[in-house]
Amino acid sequence: MMEGGEEEEIMAATAANYYSKDFEWDHLRQEIENNPCHAHHLLPFPKQDDQQHTLLCSPQEDDDSEAWSKFHTRHSTGKFFKERRYLLKEFPELASCGECSTILEIGCGNGSTALAILRGNKSISLYACDCSKEALERAKENIEAANINLAKERFYPFQCDFSASRFPNWLACTACRENFFQKQSMCISDARSCSKQDFPSAKNNSCIGGVDFVTLIFTLSAVPLHRMSRAITECFSVLKPGGLLLFRDYGLYDMTMLRFEPEQRVGYREYMRSDGTRSYFFCLDRVRDLFCATGFTELELEYCCVQSVNRQNGKIMQRVWIHGKFQRPHVHVGS
Ligand SMILES: C[S@@+](CC[C@H](N)C(=O)[O-])C[C@H]1O[C@@H](n2cnc3c(N)ncnc32)[C@H](O)[C@@H]1O
Repeated sequence: MMEGGEEEEIMAATAANYYSKDFEWDHLRQEIENNPCHAHHLLPFPKQDDQQHTLLCSPQEDDDSEAWSKFHTRHSTGKFFKERRYLLKEFPELASCGECSTILEIGCGNGSTALAILRGNKSISLYACDCSKEALERAKENIEAANINLAKERFYPFQCDFSASRFPNWLACTACRENFFQKQSMCISDARSCSKQDFPSAKNNSCIGGVDFVTLIFTLSAVPLHRMSRAITECFSVLKPGGLLLFRDYGLYDMTMLRFEPEQRVGYREYMRSDGTRSYFFCLDRVRDLFCATGFTELELEYCCVQSVNRQNGKIMQRVWIHGKFQRPHVHVGS
């Protein structure tokens, strides 16, 4: 998540006095790796003893949630909220999927992604979790304020730290999870015809049978690297066979990475902001390794690189994001 000044800059970049163009990630890589000013970002991270590792890389689940809760409390004004209107262009299947499709948006924050999806698809049901209660409150407020037809009824927020605990059983019970491994049943929702009543509500605790989509939008980078693999396995376990995981996050050498001071490094390509929230910067191979090792099939994976230039003062911003689309195979390999 961005810190205040950063967010303002990015919002300003969309204003008329900026112009933007795409650039090649490889050019940026060469520039950074040959510039001694950035040398500290490239150094291997010193190995820690067990105690240091606990302090730096493995804060308790509660510490992460607490840092994010404070963040959401500090940024509780509507000014900080920005709907991700570009999202359905990046992931058109969110708009075109079947009538009764279900989505799990993980790390929903103040609802920037959730709102864009609910607005873009009027029949989708969206389950949204966050480790922070404050975030969920902000998301509920923003979705109510948007006043979209039936958005409130299609939005089910719940608290969960997906890197440290299982998703609740009402999302996918043990029997459903096992079933997903065994046969090609209960595939992605457009194969079924159902009415609104067919969806058990999160409130009555009956299992909804997994989801068709998982969205991870600027959330995985907030999870400590050593817990990412577990977190992705949890995403895999609640996706129906054939379901998609849609991923967008910070890419290696994004300008926000280059602003971190050496003492803010807590691992290789891993940083901690002054408010205790974390950010990891992904290269394509890291993302591929993490998702494919869990059993996902890679459908799309690329850097998105955008350079914005302020026409008045010539200030340049080079943003790098990763766009990825992964599928849970229809039939489990080996079954
Ligand atoms: C950068 S925000 C992204 C919010 C949203 N996905 C969006 O598109 O704007 C990251 C969110 O992930 C949440 N988060 C961080 N670690 C988490 C975890 N382990 N489990 C669940 N949520 C987490 C934070 O509270 C924060 O709201």
